[in-house]
Amino acid sequence: MKKIAVFASGSGSNFQAIIDVVQSGELKADISLLVCDKPGAFAVDRANAARIPSFAFSAKDYPSKDAYEAEILAELKKRGVEFIVLAGYMRLIGPTLLREFQGRIVNIHPSLLPAFPGKDAIGQALEAKATWSGVTIHFVDEGMDTGPIIVQERVRLEEDETRESLQNKIHAVEHKLYPAILQVLLTQGGIVNGKKASTY
Ligand code: GRF
Repeated sequence: MKKIAVFASGSGSNFQAIIDVVQSGELKADISLLVCDKPGAFAVDRANAARIPSFAFSAKDYPSKDAYEAEILAELKKRGVEFIVLAGYMRLIGPTLLREFQGRIVNIHPSLLPAFPGKDAIGQALEAKATWSGVTIHFVDEGMDTGPIIVQERVRLEEDETRESLQNKIHAVEHKLYPAILQVLLTQGGIVNGKKASTY
């Protein structure tokens, strides 16, 4: 069973969706660690409730990204983590983690990339009066939401769409799509749509 770490900064509803499928046995993986850069975040409570170890830190307590990532890396190695799942982690992954995990880090983003990258993709879609937005799952590289795309699913914006309604629709898609794709990546040798995921 692959040992994974989930990285989150906030409420962690995607983290919870992953916990749920692991607990039900639908996803054969071991969530070995939650990494969280906001010690008070609800994601940490979710980890505690599920008896998943967490490493919570504040970036301001470290001199640099390299310094806190070195500590994260030590935690990952100590637990034999093989794969990193970003789920609402609001920081760019730096060279320290990328060097060790490139090709083994995935992220979920609430837009159809390359549209609306970075912060507040939902607000960006509303502001642009887009008809379509959605969800992208992609491998992580050194850029901001730029790595190779694994899968995307569309969500339609209605005339009267609000931030809350769009967020709910996007979350509903995310909570199904992320577990399904992780299942493929972690247990079927990374084959997505008949191609080896690492060749995307
Ligand atoms: C999700 O919409 C995800 O796409 C984005 O951040 C949000 C995290 O939500 N990267 P949650 O913490 O999983 O509820």
